Amino acid sequence: MENTTVLQNMIQRDQKYIWHPLTQHKTAAPPLPIVKAQGALFWDDQGKAYVDGIASWYTAMYGHAHPHIVEAMHQQLQQLDFVMFSGFTHQPALDLAERLLSLLPENQSKVFFNDNGSTAIEAAIKMAIQYHHNKGEVRDTLIAFEDGFHGDTFGAMSASGISSYNGPFKDFLLKVDRVPVPTVENHNAVLTQLEELISKHRCAAFVFEPLVQGAAGMKFHTAEGLDAMIEICQKSDVLCVADEIMTGFGKTGTIFASDQLQNSPDILCLSKALTAGMFPLSITSCSEKVYEAFLSDEVTKGFFHAHTYSAHPVGCAAALAALDLLQSDEISERRTAIAKQHLQFVKRMAGNPLVGEVRNKGVILAMDLKVKTNRYGSLRDTLYNYFMKRGVNLRPLGNTIYTLPPYIITDEQLAQIHQVMEDVLETL
Ligand SMILES: Cc1ncc(COP(=O)(O)O)c(C=O)c1O
Repeated sequence: MENTTVLQNMIQRDQKYIWHPLTQHKTAAPPLPIVKAQGALFWDDQGKAYVDGIASWYTAMYGHAHPHIVEAMHQQLQQLDFVMFSGFTHQPALDLAERLLSLLPENQSKVFFNDNGSTAIEAAIKMAIQYHHNKGEVRDTLIAFEDGFHGDTFGAMSASGISSYNGPFKDFLLKVDRVPVPTVENHNAVLTQLEELISKHRCAAFVFEPLVQGAAGMKFHTAEGLDAMIEICQKSDVLCVADEIMTGFGKTGTIFASDQLQNSPDILCLSKALTAGMFPLSITSCSEKVYEAFLSDEVTKGFFHAHTYSAHPVGCAAALAALDLLQSDEISERRTAIAKQHLQFVKRMAGNPLVGEVRNKGVILAMDLKVKTNRYGSLRDTLYNYFMKRGVNLRPLGNTIYTLPPYIITDEQLAQIHQVMEDVLETL
């Protein structure tokens, strides 16, 4: 079959059978068939290459199909493909737990396995609520940031503040009190608001994306403010849940964003780059204090929560191989080089009349355009189509254009991303 016929055929089959995420199928353009991915690139059916400027939702940080990870997964499949994780254990899970705990903040002492970001958050929220329940207290309210994003299951949606995701379900969500993210300007006001909330409501947990709110448009907040908030919460035994699903594994300059805080969270959620985009897996880790609240002669005080694919050995093998790469000199040097190249772009764009704030933290770079648009307005499509035409996968969030490239991206490929981010201004 001719290439174009295959392509047409794929699109027709897609439209006939598939319901895509985050898509209004009545008006959306047909999806682009992708046939191959390698390193920082993926290719469509016509052989056109695209630089994956957001590492496929911040997962493929070591590049697509990295041979070290592929080989580790292959070997694992041949040794032990899968076994249920209740009543059994296995080497890849043990190795991964040990290795992660040696990297996570010191107070973390146990890991619980799930299969994606939302389920990691769901487990964290349930852990926090049951922690208080097991101690004989009813705590029925969560604290979360305005505009946070934590996933699409009900607990995660409740903690999330972005209405395009959770709007239709607002009457069915958990009780949540929202606070603004702390900035230099509002520091004291946010702390006062938090103290008031805690004194008035029965707060179980404070759920937050540490230092960078991803889906909100790569918005940064201060480590000092977040540290002070954690301190206030922990004084009242409000468990602090750091959602490091986006920030984890080196993106903000440190291995975890929480490493930039003085006060460690009680619970941490990891996914995405954990397995480098090769396998769905997630982790909810917790401190010994949290774990101990579940130990009892009463069976039902245990954490009766499971996902069939918990601790999948192939996912654990992928995560271990990904950690080898993260801890290599080569990746560490690339992370530094990307941050430097981003900084030059920030300087280059500062003062441009079409540009609001340009900011970077680690390998994250975001640029706000001085235009008014809503999250799924037509401008978003115009920008997205422009980038794709120029061979770069960037997905604007409202009026924010951002890149979070794979660590293995070359200087030239990153320069190409920066160039299209600058050139797109001419289309405004
Ligand atoms: C900070 C954060 N938390 C949670 C999630 C949800 O993860 P998943 O899509 O794997 O359910 C995401 C996904 O983008 C995220 O960025």
